[in-house]
Amino acid sequence: MQSIEVDHSWSFREASRADTSYLTHGYHRYPAKFIPQLAARVIRENTDAGDLVCDPFMGSGTTLVEAIVNGRRAYGTDINPVAVMISKAKTAPINPAKLRSEVDSVFDYLQAAKHKENYAQVDYSALGIAAPSRERINYWFSEKQQRDLALILQRIRLVQDQAIQNFLLCSFSNILKGCSIWMLKSVKPTRDWQKKVAPACRSFVLQTEKMTRKNAEFWQVMQGICVGAGAGIKPEPECIVDSRDARHLALRDSSVDLILTSPPYVTSYEYADLHQLTALWLGYTDSLKDFRSKFIGSIQKQDIECKLYSKLAADTVSRLKAKDKKEGSAAERYFSEMQQCFEEMYRVLKLGGRAAIVIGDTDLKKVQIKNAEVFVQTMEKIGFLTRNIIKRPVPSKILPLTRDLRTGRFAKVASSNRLAYPTEYIVMMEKA
Ligand SMILES: C[S@@+](CC[C@H](N)C(=O)[O-])C[C@H]1O[C@@H](n2cnc3c(N)ncnc32)[C@H](O)[C@@H]1O
Repeated sequence: MQSIEVDHSWSFREASRADTSYLTHGYHRYPAKFIPQLAARVIRENTDAGDLVCDPFMGSGTTLVEAIVNGRRAYGTDINPVAVMISKAKTAPINPAKLRSEVDSVFDYLQAAKHKENYAQVDYSALGIAAPSRERINYWFSEKQQRDLALILQRIRLVQDQAIQNFLLCSFSNILKGCSIWMLKSVKPTRDWQKKVAPACRSFVLQTEKMTRKNAEFWQVMQGICVGAGAGIKPEPECIVDSRDARHLALRDSSVDLILTSPPYVTSYEYADLHQLTALWLGYTDSLKDFRSKFIGSIQKQDIECKLYSKLAADTVSRLKAKDKKEGSAAERYFSEMQQCFEEMYRVLKLGGRAAIVIGDTDLKKVQIKNAEVFVQTMEKIGFLTRNIIKRPVPSKILPLTRDLRTGRFAKVASSNRLAYPTEYIVMMEKA
């Protein structure tokens, strides 16, 4: 695989920030998000209008958005409730007039409340936030920020329309890091006492206004797709956002035309930690430990006995275990759980259907983890045929090159000693 030439046509280097955050793509930040241009190209080249596209690790829903704006049907799932909330918001076009009126009413309420002292105490029980989460909220937010955020959240919870309520929760979630002392750009939860914290109400208004404009564009695009120009008989795109484990998809056997996904990496991002602020405020979990244990790739899990189909995976695990037992076991668990995911993908794909897996190599304890090669070996054992392997450069503006082991921060300096993914692969497999 090392010998595969880099295909620069897949770099999308020319895509500006505005291009990668068009329509609803800019609603919420998310680690290791696809660029929409990549998802759009894979979908257009491998499916027809009306086909079903599935992303079993949907994250912030990039695949789903691109599927539906291209007139395909979409099914996505993620174990992370934060991802589910974001994906629901990003795939639900809302009537702009209805949204405007609801947003104005929320803003009016916040404006009026600022002049009253009726929000001196935060009623966490009324917000459904349990005691352990309150402690964590205290750890990250000042008292004043907590009062303002609670006020916003209380008002959002009163919105009757579920799509609009979810839209506003997505806005609320995206401002939380800026309103806390969370060290931005760190992949490990770290407090930054020097940070200039953003004011909650103002951040919420700005973020909601930005999303409202994007919703109007999205609504317009989806109107064209739903009503259908010309013949007027285009099928209305369906989009299902699920919250299941990728190993148990709610799909019939042989029903999917294309799987397009980027899986988690082993011990790379702890999604549970990175999304803890939203999880705390929205009551998604009371225990970070339980929250982490559901994620594939997390180091915080029980050991399991397993038989790996890929020889390269087994060799990699042995080399890692010799250096560090814990990291070796985490890699073993990761490869085994990914194996189960590939079996599930095989089940749901139609004969001749494709699975496009976007993955980079990485390293742990100076042992190279050739994820792409392991995945190809594993998927071939399951019955897939390798159709194509594309090696694409990852422009540094999207993913920095190295990760500092001490701080966990991504950086572009020589002192950081962990290689992240300067190139990645699109492994294109077919159910034969
Ligand atoms: C690399 S991210 C996907 C990002 C996505 N392509 C996007 O554009 O936002 C991988 C995702 O896998 C999810 N994940 C981890 N374990 C999972 C599991 N057991 N089942 C489903 N999703 C899982 C994580 O929550 C994370 O959102």
